[in-house]
Amino acid sequence: MTTYNILLLPGDGIGAEVAQQAQRVLDVISRNRSITFNVETDLVGGVCYDVHGVAITDATMTLAHKADAVLFGAVGSPAYDDVPRDCRPEMAILRLRKDLDLYANLRPALGFDALLNASSLKPDVIAGMDLMIVRETTSGVYFGEPRGMMSHPSGDEYCIDTQGYTRSEIERVGRIAFELARQRDNRLTSVEKNNVMETGVFWKRVISELHNDYNDVHLDHMLADNCAMQLIRNPKQFDVLVTDNLFGDLLSDAAAMGTGSLGMLPSATLGDMRDTGFRSSMYEPVHGSAPDIAGQDKANPCAMILSLAMMLKYSFGMDDVASCIDQTVQAVLSDNIRTGDITESNSTLVGTQGMGDAICAKLEIALS
Ligand code: IPM
Ligand code: MG
Repeated sequence: MTTYNILLLPGDGIGAEVAQQAQRVLDVISRNRSITFNVETDLVGGVCYDVHGVAITDATMTLAHKADAVLFGAVGSPAYDDVPRDCRPEMAILRLRKDLDLYANLRPALGFDALLNASSLKPDVIAGMDLMIVRETTSGVYFGEPRGMMSHPSGDEYCIDTQGYTRSEIERVGRIAFELARQRDNRLTSVEKNNVMETGVFWKRVISELHNDYNDVHLDHMLADNCAMQLIRNPKQFDVLVTDNLFGDLLSDAAAMGTGSLGMLPSATLGDMRDTGFRSSMYEPVHGSAPDIAGQDKANPCAMILSLAMMLKYSFGMDDVASCIDQTVQAVLSDNIRTGDITESNSTLVGTQGMGDAICAKLEIALS
């Protein structure tokens, strides 16, 4: 009997509701495969701040280091807007990425057939869209020093952030992106702004040199502003994109809208490989905590369930069950069962629980 230890961090707002549906999916898998998931649940984000005065505790970080994978819901709420920056709910995500050394954030954007009309882009622009953004997540301007208020010769108030990358930081995320491209359509687009940024020139040079190890992969380079435009104009031109922390944050939100709803987008944040898979990696929906609909059984649990599928694939090597979950979610959408964010005139409107019911019922049949 295989056992996997999962640290579940539901977090704030709708995080708890979508995490509950993920747990049900894990139960379905356990029942139908000889696998035990030891799920330990802990506080993160605002709910953690309320109890401990920090967004994530050292004890929880220890659990995260030990776990085979971390499944994360969502954090944040306007209630914490005035909390000092270091204690804000979002800091939990940054600490998990940094301390677990999870440097490659994979954000797939798929044009789900059933949702072509839910997107703000025209159906023919997004039909068949299947791209993956690989975003660096342990360095760049999110972590660069010095940062903060500084004195300025003019005596004026002055504030800085610092963008910096080492060669090895670019190489390691680049390798993951090249490897992923090989498993997909073999095309990689590296994104930076070498026309204005020194780090952009360096990023482009390092990725170009790395290409020598992967010269079977087709590589091209694109400026980040052009990439933002191309993601809206013609997202189907892309296979895998690799970019820095800040550009990846912006571009992944832009790409997300092609799919129709943030409620559909999963993500994986990976570090180095260990044994048979990426260990201690983190899996989370791209959407936030959505305080406006929290606790009302309205949240779409699909992104969380698809994140769980990414965990099975990348951390546990269970590719077959992962694709079974992907197909099950697509099938439920094709049955026109929809949460409010993706509802259409002819669809059956369900809540978080109802969407979980539909997915679990279909998955039970598919896996048995
Ligand atoms: C994301 C989020 C985070 C980020 C925030 C919540 C810190 O926007 O994961 O994209 O900026 O990385
Ligand atoms: Mg973001």
